[in-house]
Amino acid sequence: IVDIKSGPDEGLNRLGDTLAIRGWVRTLRIQSSVTFIEVNDGSCLSNMQCVMSSEAEGYDQVESGVISTGASVWIQGVVVKSQGTKQKVELKIEKLVMVGASDPSFPIQKKRVSREFLRTKAHLRPRTNTFGAVARVRNALAYATHKFFQENGFIWVSSPIITASDCEGAGEQFCVTTLIPSSKEVTDSPVARIPRTEDGSIDWSQDFFGKPAFLTVSGQLNAETYATALSDVYTFGPTFRAENSNTSRHLAEFWMIEPELAFADLEDDMACATAYLQYVVQYVLENCKEDMDFFNTWIEKGIINRLTDVAEKNFVQLTYTDAIKLLLKAKKKFEFPVKWGCDLQSEHERYITEEAFAGCPVIIRDYPKDIKAFYMRENEDGKTVAAMDMLVPRIGELIGGSQREERLEFLENRLDDLKLNKDSYWWYLDLRRYGSVPHSGFGLGFERLVQFATGVDNIRDAIPFPRTPGSAEF
Ligand code: 4AD
Ligand code: MG
Repeated sequence: IVDIKSGPDEGLNRLGDTLAIRGWVRTLRIQSSVTFIEVNDGSCLSNMQCVMSSEAEGYDQVESGVISTGASVWIQGVVVKSQGTKQKVELKIEKLVMVGASDPSFPIQKKRVSREFLRTKAHLRPRTNTFGAVARVRNALAYATHKFFQENGFIWVSSPIITASDCEGAGEQFCVTTLIPSSKEVTDSPVARIPRTEDGSIDWSQDFFGKPAFLTVSGQLNAETYATALSDVYTFGPTFRAENSNTSRHLAEFWMIEPELAFADLEDDMACATAYLQYVVQYVLENCKEDMDFFNTWIEKGIINRLTDVAEKNFVQLTYTDAIKLLLKAKKKFEFPVKWGCDLQSEHERYITEEAFAGCPVIIRDYPKDIKAFYMRENEDGKTVAAMDMLVPRIGELIGGSQREERLEFLENRLDDLKLNKDSYWWYLDLRRYGSVPHSGFGLGFERLVQFATGVDNIRDAIPFPRTPGSAEF
């Protein structure tokens, strides 16, 4: 049994061999003398064209009509040169076994269906060309991520999914409560099983953790503990944000890659982010050629050239202050007015990456401290912090990072200024008490990277099962 990947194009050197494949029927064309069955097994974009004559074993399955689009089949045949122009080789069927029939209601017939429609069929959409290709490229990006960091001496650290702290301090967390086991006296409704005090509020003392716990918004604080022991580390795992933004670049559950570099400043951080992005982009260009050609034709024209530029050219770098000057000089009217101290909105990011520096990733650094998280290192000017965001066309912010505040008094003062509870950060402050070092890191939203590398314009199509406001089906 072989993967179809080794068939349609590379099969030429197997002419005359007998092979078996397994997969799902994409199309079936019954003609007077022969039947064409196109089979896909997900190993590649191409289908294996299989040709069946009425003498072949299993032809009764075709005649009786049980083989249709969506059915799973096992086929044995001989590799022959194809008469058609679409593929170089095809399989002349000797024997066909129907593994699982497909009901005529199968919703993904050959005609093109919209991506909106396919989101309502997330369990079947991996059977389409687009979602098969996105899944393979997503896998390649994950593999390349580990490869990049491992080859550069980083150690992968698992950060916890359940946590008591809020790394970003934005309050966009999901709370985890424990449900009392259901019994006869208690109804099965999850809400009724949350432990409560007499006045009806949640009784945290009865809860599993004894206090409120949350799904993590970022693994950074935990990564810092390992970076200040093992030097360079990275996390790669799911993170959660109860951000009520229904946009094409926000998910409630997304994967984040968070490297943390010890003995490193913001320059080192930006250099690492640039080298990482160039490496993974180059990796998919080299290793996912068939899928990338597909995206180039059907999803975003010119994406291969765009990514080739990203892999080879220098990125633009400018300070936040210069970015504001640039926006103020722009002829364009923005919906959100620009002034020093404002957070950059997506319209501003788009202007910078799509018009001011067309097509190229842009790194903006040294943001006002008031719009950034508590852990970022204060610059000499006392007004800005050593933060950096990497922006890319169409998506906006792909990466957010910073040099961390390694000086105990600065960090304590910052927590006080922001009225954050210092006690709950005791272990984080300890890192500044015992052998503190300058260190830096960044977070990259993996689904935004998948969007960037495939051209899919909605983040809901960059993850198998998107979680967004009001939607947690499948
Ligand atoms: O800029 P953010 O909030 O930074 C942090 O969480 C830091 N603790 C990272 C670090 O320094 N270790 O998030 C980092 C990235 C963003 O640039 C964006 O790509 C992605 O995470 N991101 C999201 N992706 C999808 N959906 C969301 N709701 C996202 N929020 C952030
Ligand atoms: Mg950010």
